[in-house]
Amino acid sequence: MDLLSPRPSVGQIKPYRPVRPPRDGRRWIDLSLTHNPLGPSPLALDAYCEAAARIHCYPDWDQDPLRHAIARRHSIDADHIVCTAGSEELIHLVAQAFAGPGDEVLCHERGYRGFIKAIRATGATAVVAAERDMVVDVEAMIDRATERTRICFLANPNNPTGTYIPADAVQRLRAGLPSHTLLVLDSAYADYCRMPDYSDGTEIVENSDNVMLIRTFSKMHGLAGLRVGWGYGPSTVIEAVNAIRGAFNVSLPAQMTAAAALSDAEHEEATFAHNAQWLPWLSRELERVGLRVYPSVCNFVLARVPTDPSLGTQAVIDHLARRGILVKPVTDYGLSDCLRITVGREEENKALVVALAEILG
Ligand SMILES: Cc1ncc(COP(=O)(O)O)c(C=O)c1O
Repeated sequence: MDLLSPRPSVGQIKPYRPVRPPRDGRRWIDLSLTHNPLGPSPLALDAYCEAAARIHCYPDWDQDPLRHAIARRHSIDADHIVCTAGSEELIHLVAQAFAGPGDEVLCHERGYRGFIKAIRATGATAVVAAERDMVVDVEAMIDRATERTRICFLANPNNPTGTYIPADAVQRLRAGLPSHTLLVLDSAYADYCRMPDYSDGTEIVENSDNVMLIRTFSKMHGLAGLRVGWGYGPSTVIEAVNAIRGAFNVSLPAQMTAAAALSDAEHEEATFAHNAQWLPWLSRELERVGLRVYPSVCNFVLARVPTDPSLGTQAVIDHLARRGILVKPVTDYGLSDCLRITVGREEENKALVVALAEILG
């Protein structure tokens, strides 16, 4: 009798193992995940409490109030929006709907690892285009496209590099890909990037019939624990995702809280201002203690630990842990000498730099 086994590509998926603060009663400074250091908006918290009295009810299956709140906030058409349990679910659903065994799905070298996982789950082949010094290389991506390329995933800005490519490069990518390839723009960190040449991709979705935009409430809105993401795209894509998603995939508290979060412009501005103040500070201070920091437009930085045979990346991680600070190793991105460090609150950023100076000198 054959043993039960999943498809071979599923066997290649490495389960995600986030860094976890030990449950030792200490107050850890956790800079390993990309949380909003200011937490959620007070308006979102009120809505969450209000939702508590209604959790015996199923949520809106058509996600109407949340889709309309997103549509109003971003001046887009609610009929072209779908909401999911985090943007990660949407990445999986799009992959599932458009790719399968025998197909190829394109992504980029240091691109968000959720793409590879979603691709492997479908049985399609992941084709990975090289980057240049931690930045997406559009021409390399176009070169790797074939008649079998069903989807091209682009994280812009990208995690864990923190870098972005300008809107005209995204247009060039679209123009260079085959028309049968769906371009998926994952703009999870768009709210943090106000560079004049950057776009989250809204216009390119509106001017094409083969581009999908993915956004999340986990970062700027500080709702990572609730799991809400959304997509904006052509009817074909929205209908396909709606066809395969769980009818009640976004919980009632998640829908109500996310809609309320969108109405708190003050909290968004405070979050942006905090990041705009501390991201450059952190980048400068990390460079001062000897790390190489890649230019980031996100709420984290990618930092390379100096090559020193007596001091590996793990030694730095261990030292920080002894000081009660967690950062993220990025070995699974082929970056064993780098760390991803999230911008924290003022006292957290300062404690990190003090601890790094102790070990790096
Ligand atoms: C680029 C990118 N896309 C998508 C996600 C998934 O976010 P969520 O599922 O919390 O919306 C992340 C999370 O870290 C990310 O960095």
